[in-house]
Amino acid sequence: MIRKKGQTIRLDTPNTTLVIKADTAEYLYYGKKLMSAGGFEALSPTPRKIFSQYGENDYTEYGVLIENSDGGFSTCFSFSKSKILTEKPEIEGLPSSYGEGKTLELKYIDAPTKVCLYLYYTVFDDCDAIAVSSRIVNQAKKEICVRRLASLQLDLLGDYSVVTFEGAWARERQKISRDIVRGVYYNDSKKGMSSHSRNPFVIAEGKEGVYGFNLVYSGNHKEAFERDEQGRTRALVGMNDFMFGWKLAPGETFCAPEAVMCYAPSEDELSLSMHAFVAEHIVRGKWKKKERPVLVNNWEGTYFDFNEEKLLAIARAAKDAGAELFVLDDGWFGKRDDDTSSLGDWTDNADKTGGGLANLADKIRELGLEFGIWVEPEMISEDSELYRSHPNFAMKVPGREPTRLRNQLCLNLADERVQNYVVRSISDVIARSGAAYVKWDYNRSLTDCYAKGVAQGEYFHRYMLGFYRIAAKLTKKFPFVLFEGCAGGGGRFDLGTLCYFPQFWTSDNTDARARLKIQDGTSYGYPQTVMTAHVSACPNHQTGDSNPLETRFNVACGGVLGYELDMSKLSESDFATAARQIEFYKKNRKLFQFGTYYRLGDVFSSDVGGFMVVSRDKSCAAAVVSVSGKVLGGPVPRVAFKGLAPSAVYDVTTRPQDNYAAEQAFSAGGDLLMNGGIFLRDLFEDLQSKENSGCLYTRMYLFKKNKI
Ligand code: DGJ
Repeated sequence: MIRKKGQTIRLDTPNTTLVIKADTAEYLYYGKKLMSAGGFEALSPTPRKIFSQYGENDYTEYGVLIENSDGGFSTCFSFSKSKILTEKPEIEGLPSSYGEGKTLELKYIDAPTKVCLYLYYTVFDDCDAIAVSSRIVNQAKKEICVRRLASLQLDLLGDYSVVTFEGAWARERQKISRDIVRGVYYNDSKKGMSSHSRNPFVIAEGKEGVYGFNLVYSGNHKEAFERDEQGRTRALVGMNDFMFGWKLAPGETFCAPEAVMCYAPSEDELSLSMHAFVAEHIVRGKWKKKERPVLVNNWEGTYFDFNEEKLLAIARAAKDAGAELFVLDDGWFGKRDDDTSSLGDWTDNADKTGGGLANLADKIRELGLEFGIWVEPEMISEDSELYRSHPNFAMKVPGREPTRLRNQLCLNLADERVQNYVVRSISDVIARSGAAYVKWDYNRSLTDCYAKGVAQGEYFHRYMLGFYRIAAKLTKKFPFVLFEGCAGGGGRFDLGTLCYFPQFWTSDNTDARARLKIQDGTSYGYPQTVMTAHVSACPNHQTGDSNPLETRFNVACGGVLGYELDMSKLSESDFATAARQIEFYKKNRKLFQFGTYYRLGDVFSSDVGGFMVVSRDKSCAAAVVSVSGKVLGGPVPRVAFKGLAPSAVYDVTTRPQDNYAAEQAFSAGGDLLMNGGIFLRDLFEDLQSKENSGCLYTRMYLFKKNKI
């Protein structure tokens, strides 16, 4: 709700309040919901600007930097007026959140030039996250150049530490915390993708609670935190201004991507709010609330080495085990037998697919499975028909050797003709195969950003606009297809892609121990509904480690479940175990995919971790608890559950596992289970604990509210 009363504008979400001074548009308060209605003047002796610019007595990181037509960089945007809008303004060309709510518009004018700056704050009725965006409208008579436009600025008072989610390929979103003592800290990407290295989701943690920030964008981003001599920590969130410069002719508008901010008393509560925001206001379309199929993907089972016979054998076994969707991964097109060729040639390799995709897909459907297909639409191999006929489609700097990553180049998506080629060729793949699912991969970052006719400073962003145009067209054209984003694992796991693709491949690392951390880190900002997680073969192909099949399954239940191995090669007993797992998962799928998700223990700082999902009415729950190291003679690990109804009594059982004889069954109060926790002594009495020393130990606890 947004109300303008006297000298204040007040934005209320269910649990938070943001107060803005009506005459100067400065922040007065942002935090826990206020029940009182006045006295705001007493709050802030230090001005907390809502945006900052070069040219005034403020030397911290600027939110807005404009190169004026006279070559100077000073601006003096001053507040002009505010408006409460009932319709959320569209951000042209960019994805953004949606839903019922109100939007506050703040307008600023740079008097000498008449350039206008608009800020938007959208408050939804059902969620604590506030969507914030900014735009520049050039009402001057001459061209200007936008050098930086942050989407969101928040000046915080006091000491803060910044929590980021960083990593690399196969090690995405590891939680790192650092104090912002003095100086500037940047969490950013210059890779042309939100990146494996630093996710745009960040948290500022202080004594009064935590503030979470994210960006609805998949390209270069920058989250800056500057602690100044006044004890103020400025948070700026937006597109990266690295190499950036956007020319704006008179009358033109530049829109920055939407950002989101959220206050909560604790990390756990912040995650719950971010999950609700993503599930309700980012993910859209037919799959938003629909249970996702259990898939079997052939990638780790075959890599490039497959033919129709092998694929059908995997599919038959998948069907027998209870899976619902077969996904054909990389290698089915052109003459691709390894990663050196054919990207861009989305034509069937008849030898590997038994006469073509349509044929193969029909056979898969005859088995009773849906058919899904892998594509990497934004790329081109130099050894491809597309490159031979359209070398100019590739992103390259003339006269320079391009940087090749995974032997491939990027397509120049800043060019509309290239975008149209992608839409055409991928539409054809979906149409001719009747695919019910598409895995959209992206296996390298941008290095040779250049295109004739495109200003260098605009290239990165024009690429993203091209990608979004393609994604919008294809998802509109195929509304029933389930799209899964992927970027060499989780390299573009962000709110921008999630506006088009309702789920994302969390990481190429399918090792259960590594996955626990990757999924746990991801869960701070994103719900389990958008994280996909597969059971794969052991020794694991990424780490070489082995973990019991039941452990791999337990961990994969923390996301949308799939299997990624040659199911036809499983031993009889492993096959039976997998079939039991799938049956169990399908019965409890709604709980796993759409229940309220909590982290348990702390995988980043202790040996005990895991997660828990609780049904919306708290009548049932499931928890996966993990112990990652043996503590001999030490304290017995203990875990406290979360999210249960405190006064209810729950019947607790353990899911039968083939490597665990002694099942548990007991009843206890919700408050006891949450506050007292239970000891995990039995995890060390595992049948396999001696054979597989070094394994991750997991148990799944199931909770049912006792009727009495
Ligand atoms: C990277 C993806 O993350 C993998 O799952 C797989 O699809 C390969 N690319 C295929 O090249």
